[in-house]
Amino acid sequence: MKNKLEEIKNNIEKITINSIEELELFRNKYFSKKGILAELFEEFKQAPNEVKKDLGKLLNQIKIETETKIQKATDNYSKKTKKKPTKKDKTLTIDKLLSGVRHPLTKVEKEIINIFKKQGFTVSDGPEIESDWYNFSALNFPQNHPARDMQDTFFIDKEIALRTHTSSVQVRIMENQKPPIRSIMPGRVYRNESISSRSNCYFHQVEGLFIDKDVSFVDLKQTLFSFVKEMFGSNTNVRFRPSYFPFTEPSAEMDISCLICGGSGCNICKHSGWVEILGCGMIDENVLENCKINPKEYTGFAFGMGVERITMLKYNVKDLRVFFQNDIRFLGQFIGE
Ligand code: DAH
Repeated sequence: MKNKLEEIKNNIEKITINSIEELELFRNKYFSKKGILAELFEEFKQAPNEVKKDLGKLLNQIKIETETKIQKATDNYSKKTKKKPTKKDKTLTIDKLLSGVRHPLTKVEKEIINIFKKQGFTVSDGPEIESDWYNFSALNFPQNHPARDMQDTFFIDKEIALRTHTSSVQVRIMENQKPPIRSIMPGRVYRNESISSRSNCYFHQVEGLFIDKDVSFVDLKQTLFSFVKEMFGSNTNVRFRPSYFPFTEPSAEMDISCLICGGSGCNICKHSGWVEILGCGMIDENVLENCKINPKEYTGFAFGMGVERITMLKYNVKDLRVFFQNDIRFLGQFIGE
C-alpha cells in the first residue's frame, strides 16, 4: 500500500488545476464520498498495525495536499467566475413609487370645511365620549326621546355615551363663547345601528352653528344655498322640507336635485329627483337658555350633514362600507384628488 500511496502523492503534486471545471473533476476524483481518498482510508483500516504509523503519515500528507489544492483553486476560480455587477441601463424608467392618497372622506370633509371657512366659520372640536348633558339634555331631548334608546346609542354607563352627533360640540361652544358665534364641528359619531350598504355603527358629520343678533331663517337658507352651489355645482337645485329636531324650531331637512339623474328620477333618488343631504333649523330657545345665551337678544341657526352621504353622492359610491375597508383598489382611485 505504501507504494501505491507514494504514487498517488506524486500524481497529485503534479496536477495543476486551471479552471473551475477542472477543479470539479479533481474534487470528484479525489475528494468525493466515493473518491480515491475515501477508498484509501477504507483500505488503511485493514492494514496491519505495525505499518499503520507510516501509512497514516503518508495518507495525511495526501489529504492535506488535496485540500490545499482544492482551496487554492477555489480561491482562484470562484473569484474569477463571480459575476461582475451588470451595468444598469440608466435610460429605463424607474418603478412607479406608490404614494399615499387622502381618504375620500377626509378629502370631502376638508372641502366642506374650506367652503364654510370662506364664509367666516371657525372650526371646533370636541370629545367623542360625551355626557348625557352635551349629547342630549342641553339639546332639549325629552327624557323619553327614542334617540336616547339603547338601540341608537352606545352607552358607557347611564350618564356617559359615545356621541351620536356632533351637536354636542355646539353646546360646548355656546357654553364657552359669547355671540356672535360662527363655527363648524367636523367629527366622528357613533350609532348602535346594524351595518349595511347605507349605515354603519360610526360615521362622520360636519355640523354648523351661527348665532348673532337678528339671525333669521333667510340667513340659514342663504348660507346653505351657497354651500351647495360650491360643493355640487351651480346647476344644483335646493329644496327645504319641514322636519323635526328637538334642538331647532322650526326645523327642516334640505334636499338637493339628484346628481346622478339631474332630477329626472333614478334608483339613487328613488325616482323622486331629490336626495336629502342635511338637517337644519333655528336654534330652539330652550337650547340657548340651557347654554346661558339670552334668546331675547340672540337668535341663531344650526345644521348638520353626514360626510359619508355627501361623498357617496359626489362620487357615486353605492355602498358606504367601502369607506372603512381600506381596500387600495378603491382608495387608489382618488390619487391626485
Ligand atoms: N344632529 C342631527 C343628526 O345627527 C343633524 C342636525 C339636524 C344637526 C339639525 C343640527 C341641526 O345642528 O340643526 O341627525
